[in-house]
Amino acid sequence: MNFSNSLIQWYLKHKRDLPWRDTQNPYPIWLSEIMLQQTRVAQGLPYFVAFYEAFPTVFDLANANEEQVLKLWQGLGYYSRARNLHETAKFVANNCNGVFPTSYQSLLKLKGVGEYTAAAIASFAYHESVPVVDGNVYRVLARYFDVSIDISSSTSKKEFTKLAYEVISKDDPATFNQAIMEFGALQCVPKNPNCSACIFNSSCAALQKKKVAQLPIKSKKVKVTRRYFNYLFFSDENQNTLINKRVGKGIWENLYEFPLIETDTEFEIPEVISLIQKKFGHQYQIRTIIPYNTESIQHKLSHQQLFIRFWNLTVVEIFDNGIPINELVNFPFSKLLSNFIEREL
Ligand code: ADE
Repeated sequence: MNFSNSLIQWYLKHKRDLPWRDTQNPYPIWLSEIMLQQTRVAQGLPYFVAFYEAFPTVFDLANANEEQVLKLWQGLGYYSRARNLHETAKFVANNCNGVFPTSYQSLLKLKGVGEYTAAAIASFAYHESVPVVDGNVYRVLARYFDVSIDISSSTSKKEFTKLAYEVISKDDPATFNQAIMEFGALQCVPKNPNCSACIFNSSCAALQKKKVAQLPIKSKKVKVTRRYFNYLFFSDENQNTLINKRVGKGIWENLYEFPLIETDTEFEIPEVISLIQKKFGHQYQIRTIIPYNTESIQHKLSHQQLFIRFWNLTVVEIFDNGIPINELVNFPFSKLLSNFIEREL
């Protein structure tokens, strides 16, 4: 049996039962694929279920307000995905009568839909023969065919896409695409794959050449920036606090947060206290300033390492623009802040 048929046979036997696999409706397929970008199935699945229940059609999602969408997205990260998702839902609902584009090329025109997602939707919903090419697919192909192209090079995507076009099942591209992704997720895993239990253990080129651990080749390391955040949790005499919406590009855009003082190195406690006084001492009559944590909490994002300190501040007056502390749960926050709110407030 050839690579593609063997892979499909393996998939039919080992696949996980996932809700977006029972359908050819492009709406839940699109939803799941956007949610699963940079996210594992185990983490994304409950979000998908909640989202699909809250917004069972593209019209429901289009008519939702942004806060509602962000609130359901809370904790999934990469929030620009949620905003693009919402924008695209509005576009499909209002400009296309709720009907998704039906080809790979036309799907690509949707905001937030790249080559990978367009290929997934086109194959799963419309059986178009176009391969999905993501990290899982790079790994499976690089190992099975012993491809030594550096996956961080600019030409690697083209090369792997070409190879994927050669091996995709023309009869059943949808199942082939699900299969290669599933195989990468369950069997041909990045670290210590169990090759002795693999269907390809007599045909995998990397296994024969003892190169499984080296493939795929990836040379570039991501540069991680360190940032130092001091979040100020104010409370006034009426148990109100202050929050702002994050604006501009960058992490957590449009989510809410407490007033923030960011520094480019780690400041000692007394230094931060004087920064707080300088920034807020004119505006408010601050009674106490107490750190919740003296050691920074570390929070890792893909390209940033955040060092976070939370501060408890009480003021004498009543805020004009305060939010009751017990209403904070209604606002969309980053996972970091919603954890803090759940834990401390
Ligand atoms: N990751 C991205 N898309 C997926 C899918 N359709 N099934 C399982 N994992 C995935």
